[in-house]
Order: sequence, then C-alpha cells, then structure tokens
Amino acid sequence: MMITENKVLSSLESYAFDEVDRMRDELKAKGVDVIDFGVGDPDTPTPEIIRNAVKKAIDTRKSAGYPRNAGTPEFLHEVVAWTKKRFGVTLDPATQIASSLGSKEAVFNFPLAFVNPGDVVLVPNPGYPPYERGTQFARGIPVFMNLLEENNYLPDFEKIDSDTAKKAKIMWLNYPNNPTASMATEEFFKRAITFCRENEIILVSDEAYSEMYFDEKPHSILEYGMEGIVAINSLSKRSAMTGYRVGWLAGDEKIIKAYKKLKGNIDSGTATFIQDAATEALKDEDHVEIMRNEYQQKRDILLEAFDSIGLPKSVPAGTFYIWQKVPAGYTSVEFSKKMLAGDIALVATPGSFLSEEVDGVNPGEGFVRFALVPSIERTKEAARRIKALKI
Ligand SMILES: Cc1ncc(COP(=O)(O)O)c(C=O)c1O
Repeated sequence: MMITENKVLSSLESYAFDEVDRMRDELKAKGVDVIDFGVGDPDTPTPEIIRNAVKKAIDTRKSAGYPRNAGTPEFLHEVVAWTKKRFGVTLDPATQIASSLGSKEAVFNFPLAFVNPGDVVLVPNPGYPPYERGTQFARGIPVFMNLLEENNYLPDFEKIDSDTAKKAKIMWLNYPNNPTASMATEEFFKRAITFCRENEIILVSDEAYSEMYFDEKPHSILEYGMEGIVAINSLSKRSAMTGYRVGWLAGDEKIIKAYKKLKGNIDSGTATFIQDAATEALKDEDHVEIMRNEYQQKRDILLEAFDSIGLPKSVPAGTFYIWQKVPAGYTSVEFSKKMLAGDIALVATPGSFLSEEVDGVNPGEGFVRFALVPSIERTKEAARRIKALKI
C-alpha cells in the first residue's frame, strides 16, 4: 500500500532545529566538546518544590480519571491569582481561561477554531514556527510581518495592505520575542489592538517568555484590552517545566469558549497531577528570580565576550536568547559555521533558519541566535573560546 502524506505535511521542509541538531550531532560523534546554544530547551532542573508537588499529587489523585479539559479548579484559580498579582488583570476562571498542553499545543491548534480555508493569518517573521504551521494545517494563508531592527523588531502595520487586513482572521504577536529578544511597548500594544479591532482580527499574544526579562518587566496585552484578544502563557520557561506540558490561554470569553469546544475534540487536557505542580509553581516567585539571575549572568558573560572581539552590540531585553548581529562580511550561516569550526565548537542558530524571505528580504539574515541554556560554567568556557575567534 502506498502511504502518502497530505499536501500540507508533504510540503513542509524539516523543522529548522532538525538541521541544527544534525550539525551538532555530527560534531559530537567525532568526539568534539560542543557547547550547544542552539535550541531553547534549558537543562536546568525543575525546582524541587515543583517536583515534590507532582510526587504528592500522584498519590492524592489515586484514581487518575480524565482531566477536565478547561483545567482543574485549583489551577484556574491560581492562574487568576497570578494574573491579578503580575499584571493587575482580573479574569473569570469559568469563562476567560482554558488550560493547554504548554503553549505549543495552543499555538498550533488555535487557527483550527477560527480559520476557514483561504483566510489570512498574520505571522511575525522571524517567529516561532507553529504560528505558520498551525495556519497551514488549518488551510489558512500565513502572511509574514517582518521584524526589523530599524522598527525595534515590532511589526509595521502600515505594511499590511487593506486587502490582506480584510482577509486576516488572526494576528500573532510574541513579546518578549523569540528570537529577537525584544520587548513590546505599551504604545505598540495599543496600536496593535486598534489595528486588529478596525479589521476584525483576533489578536493573540504569545507571552511564553513574560517572566524571562532582564531589566524592565514585560506587560501583558490583557492590560490594554480583552475584547477580541487572547494571551497564551506557559510554565515551561518561567519554571523550567518544558517537559511537563502545561500552560493556558486567557482573554475574551467568546474566543475561549470556541477554543475549549475545539480542544474537547482534540485531547483530554493536561494531566491533573501536572496541573497540581503548575499550581504550586505559580505560587512561588523565588525560583523564577533565581533563574532570571542565572540567565542575566550568562547573558553578561557572552555579551562581554562578543564585545571583546568587536561584534556589534546586541543587548537582549527579555527571553533567554541573544539575537547577535554578525560581523560585517559574514552571512548568518557563515558566522554560525565559523563558531562551529575547529576548537571553538559552539552551536548557535543562524537567524536565516528562523525566518522566511519576504519580498527579497530575509529579516533573520545577519543574525545568529544564542539560547542561554548551557550552565554558567559552560558559558564561561564558551566565552573563552569566543575570545579566541579571529574575525
Ligand atoms: C515563542 C514561543 N512560544 C511558545 C513556545 C512553546 O513553549 P511551550 O509549549 O513549552 O509552552 C516556545 C518554545 O520555545 C516559544 O519560543
């Protein structure tokens, strides 16, 4: 029997990270001591209080039972409390929140609830790949909004023509931004809301990195409005819980209602004992502060090394990435290869892998992304190697 993938699946190239993983694995197979700043999955242990909470919850919830798709009452209650404390926003747990399997599930599936074939979804470029992929599987058309340095990596709504704006159903935003490490201003969020309301576009703000910041605290879009708006967040980055798969959507109750209806057809929700761990995680800010401090140390170690070899200044405001400009005369791939070569053996993702070429411009070209995931000791070792680079 011939097995054929559907048109969307078969049209996809491999995930950009597969390529980075392959390059890294080849070097490792040769016995090279590689330091991997490629993929943003920290190996920081999940804090003990969270691990203990899961152990306890497995016994408390002796009969597993299917989870309630919306989320456990305790988890929803804690999301409400945390959102109030962190952003000053009041949410109704019954109607304005839905739990999710981390943010990726929500990001990928979201368009299935709202997009009809041929509808446009506005996607930041560079951007987290499921914005585009989820749109494609929903048979929508992704239209890219370039994030350029000259616009502080914020999309320029003037560049969206009125025909595209009329066909658009969803706009994705993501601040603090992966990969550019930039932050949105209050004024920008307000402009985005106005643009989306004028064009009847659902505005979704992926706030997966809201707690990963260096100086200024990021805002949530929900501080500026609720109608037609949803924010997605997750415990993955905030609490080193990438493996747990727990997050949530919050915002306009009409959108949340449709999302819950969709999700009831897809999965049966996050395991309740995992939601219990997430509930405990949300009650504690100390571990988050410790992690932020570690990221800041790693950021500063690398920035100092980049500075010492004369690379352009690229100071991240949030996330755990550095969106480093490459030196003159190099493309993203060339500079990444230079860092991989010889005894340097550092993996960083070429910016051009993380973005699409639009109108002859690839906005990721000229950058490499460092994910600050290796330990402080390994980051210091990486800094020593960077200082040995001859550019
Ligand atoms: C911008 C962005 N959103 C969402 C996610 C997904 O995170 P999770 O599904 O673990 O919550 C990531 C992960 O790297 C990300 O970079």
